[in-house]
Amino acid sequence: MAITSKDKSLLYTLQTADGTRCFSETERWMRSRKGRNVISDETRDAEHVHLDKPSAARMYDYFFGGFHNTAADRHAAEAVKAIYPDAPLVMRANRAFLRRAVAFLIERGITQFLDIGAGIPTVGNVHEIAQRLHPGARVVYVDIDPVAVNLSMALLAGNPDAAVILADARRPAAIFAHPEVPRLLDLERPLGVLLVSVLPFLKENEEAYRAVDAIRAAVAPGSYLAISHHTNDDMPPDIAAQTEWLYAGTTNPSRYRTHAEIARFFANLTLVEPGLVYAPLWRPEPLDDLFLRRPERAINLAGVGIKPFPE
Ligand SMILES: C[S@@+](CC[C@H](N)C(=O)[O-])C[C@H]1O[C@@H](n2cnc3c(N)ncnc32)[C@H](O)[C@@H]1O
Repeated sequence: MAITSKDKSLLYTLQTADGTRCFSETERWMRSRKGRNVISDETRDAEHVHLDKPSAARMYDYFFGGFHNTAADRHAAEAVKAIYPDAPLVMRANRAFLRRAVAFLIERGITQFLDIGAGIPTVGNVHEIAQRLHPGARVVYVDIDPVAVNLSMALLAGNPDAAVILADARRPAAIFAHPEVPRLLDLERPLGVLLVSVLPFLKENEEAYRAVDAIRAAVAPGSYLAISHHTNDDMPPDIAAQTEWLYAGTTNPSRYRTHAEIARFFANLTLVEPGLVYAPLWRPEPLDDLFLRRPERAINLAGVGIKPFPE
């Protein structure tokens, strides 16, 4: 796939140092280990940015009508839409769940959030929702995609209560050990962990369950995990197979899981009402009415679980 001049300018913003907290600046920080915005060891080099191969984060941005995508992303996203025309609405319903889950957690007294697989900033970022409802709420974003991280850094410049790190959900220990996490989050107190549409990218069951188990073990009792994950339970098998095949050609292959497989992520947590349901049915609000009559079209199952206090 040819890289267009628009795509090159995206690469340029990743590699220049003027005002956008750019990638090379970050990389220098990472080498000196002195700055605030950070890149973890696994994904440190600009060569990790593949603009000629679609990325899940940039395709997601395209589905939302964003600008931070390349010809390869747009091509792949259009192919997904050709197979599954509801795809952009699916993303919106998922994002609406994220908003409702954050508002719910604030209501429950949670004022610090770890958003893993946060994506490219778009409408209704977690810090915007949380800090509007509770000024001073703290947020650490995590993503494996350098473009998502770079853009989040630019967005968060000047926000003392939010930061972003480049890290891998498959390595929770590295996330919790990252200096930005203890700087902003008090791990002795309950935390809201958001795993919204990221676990499908942890394709191996064992790896995915191990990651979520480690996250649950690392957070204080009273912490919540909010999870959404697409399922093929009610989807024609050929559509599921074709979309998986399309994502296999991106930098982030993904998969569907069944209700039972997704429920396993809530092991040793207590699910809050209404349990694990299609995203539109999770504490719906009139504004998020999308797919309420046909919730299975939203594909994503969503739930929120709390880590119980020891007896
Ligand atoms: C579909 S987007 C979801 C964005 C956001 N959570 C939401 O629901 O609106 C999935 C995000 O997960 C990120 N991702 C994929 N695999 C990851 C991994 N192993 N570690 C961290 N982030 C990952 C992608 O880069 C992408 O930004």
